[in-house]
Amino acid sequence: MHNVRVESFEELERTGWERIVDDYYAACRPVTHRLIAPLLDAAHVVPGSRVLDVGTGPGDVAAEAAERGAQVVGLDLARAMINLAVRLHPNIEFIIADAVSPPFGDASFDAVVGNFTFHHVSDQPRALASWRRLLCEGGCLALTAWDDPARCRMLGLFQDAVAAARVQPAELPPGAPLMSASDAAYRQMLDVAGFHRSSVSTIGFTVQPLSVDALWTSVLAATVRTAAAITRESEDAQRRIRAAFDELVTEYLTVDGLVVPVSVKLITGRAG
Ligand SMILES: C[S@@+](CC[C@H](N)C(=O)[O-])C[C@H]1O[C@@H](n2cnc3c(N)ncnc32)[C@H](O)[C@@H]1O
Repeated sequence: MHNVRVESFEELERTGWERIVDDYYAACRPVTHRLIAPLLDAAHVVPGSRVLDVGTGPGDVAAEAAERGAQVVGLDLARAMINLAVRLHPNIEFIIADAVSPPFGDASFDAVVGNFTFHHVSDQPRALASWRRLLCEGGCLALTAWDDPARCRMLGLFQDAVAAARVQPAELPPGAPLMSASDAAYRQMLDVAGFHRSSVSTIGFTVQPLSVDALWTSVLAATVRTAAAITRESEDAQRRIRAAFDELVTEYLTVDGLVVPVSVKLITGRAG
């Protein structure tokens, strides 16, 4: 139907992130930066902590950990992301590697953190088992992930617009869900991987895009799967999705402009 070869999930993610580095960094900082301090607090990052930042992207989480006095390594699959991270934070160690199988020995770290990385790895159980292996006894895992689309409207609006437009879904490879896992499901995944005292909390805030068009354009430019679900549609289907989006977004137009809810899960676990 849309004449798009359906690649593997890993290929979609890697090639997608390679392509959108600058747009991602420009558009997503207002969201990603809100989570850096809670993530590092949850992972108990203190001076001297050995920290691995998985899916480091532009490296700002790693940089904040280093500011706290941690010894940090940032890891990402996308070379272009690592190039940006090195440019922004030349004194931090960054490596190109798969977060599912990081090239480090057992018990090498006191903390493993991942800001919006978990829903991009192809094999979540394997990734969790790897991160558990990397942690020393008592070490901490802290991850952030998008909440349910009904609460995280910044992305939920796009999913709802696709559904409301009643278009045939674009062909995307199956993979980890982008949103929607329940707190119990996250806790169970961590328990199965050998973590203890797993917990899930919710952090909510709002963003204020300059306009409806700015929200639409920036999310399509700065995301991989959300964008692919729309840009892989026919032109007519894309027009219908945009019309549905324009209708749905009116709910968030206020006297102060567009105010859109964001909701994020903070998932933590202890090794031992
Ligand atoms: C949403 S971005 C988050 C970046 C960064 N943590 C932040 O807070 O801005 C997701 C990142 O995960 C990376 N990524 C996706 N799959 C990966 C994998 N299997 N291994 C390592 N990094 C991966 C992407 O290249 C991208 O940089």
